Amino acid sequence: MKIGVIMGGISSEREVSLNTGMEILNNLDKTKYSVVPVVIDDKKDLMEKTEGVDFAFIALHGHFGEDGTVQGVLETLNIPYTGCGILSSAICMDKDMTKRILRMNGINTADWIMVRNADEIDYDAIEKLGYPVVVKPNSGGSSVATTIVSSREKIKESVIEALKYDREVMIEQYIKGDEITCPILDGKMLPVLAIKPKSSFFDYTSKYTDGGADEFVVELEETLHKKVENMAVKCYELLKCSVYSRVDMIVKDGEPYVLEVNTLPGMTKNSLFPKSAKAAGISFARLLDLIIEYSLR
Ligand code: DAL
Ligand code: MG
Repeated sequence: MKIGVIMGGISSEREVSLNTGMEILNNLDKTKYSVVPVVIDDKKDLMEKTEGVDFAFIALHGHFGEDGTVQGVLETLNIPYTGCGILSSAICMDKDMTKRILRMNGINTADWIMVRNADEIDYDAIEKLGYPVVVKPNSGGSSVATTIVSSREKIKESVIEALKYDREVMIEQYIKGDEITCPILDGKMLPVLAIKPKSSFFDYTSKYTDGGADEFVVELEETLHKKVENMAVKCYELLKCSVYSRVDMIVKDGEPYVLEVNTLPGMTKNSLFPKSAKAAGISFARLLDLIIEYSLR
């Protein structure tokens, strides 16, 4: 089977994707697969460079990769691919839509408002959320252009920055608690990791710099563990994820709040999903085999 590892792309997470792609390329078992890198610099590359590829391992993040568009092109080209399908990819890329679905189904997530224009910010609504708030592009990733804002005076500049990356910006209540992440493989939760960033929150630098954050498998107290597991699996099912995804949460006073669901979790050497899999006794190469196997089912 000739596998194309699709990487790069045109989103703000291009660099992350190139690192994810390189790790995947290096770890795919060459005795089983013939592997070619498919580096995307422009949308049309997907059509041109996938010729002769039997299967696509998607190593993209963000727009045109994680949002269902690439999945749609691959379906049209009749090339099977890894991970979530069009619908779940599109929904999970939209944090607002994801949270609406979670809310409707009784899953805890912080309160939020949406802003589409920096001159039309509803400061009263922000006041109700209570400072500090988190300002982020609605469909961003890796915390690009994400800031924690403590006062009204700083809101507008953060919104303007986030609007450079997206047409919609989310302003979300800041839940001060312990960040955890729940990787899900084929509908089952792998070991939960705790994240202790060295900076004030888990920003781009702490995500991708060696030693930027401590990330370790955490033994949650039994009741909390059950709650987290039920919630993570419910998110995966509700949002119609398949094969693998990662549910990020903050736990405050024993209550987990879902931050978002990542349908194309990072696979860089600093990334969380492979760390968790390793703790479950699944090597990187084996994880890639399983992702391929489950995707072809
Ligand atoms: N958005 C990055 C790649 C992640 O969730 O791992
Ligand atoms: Mg993300």
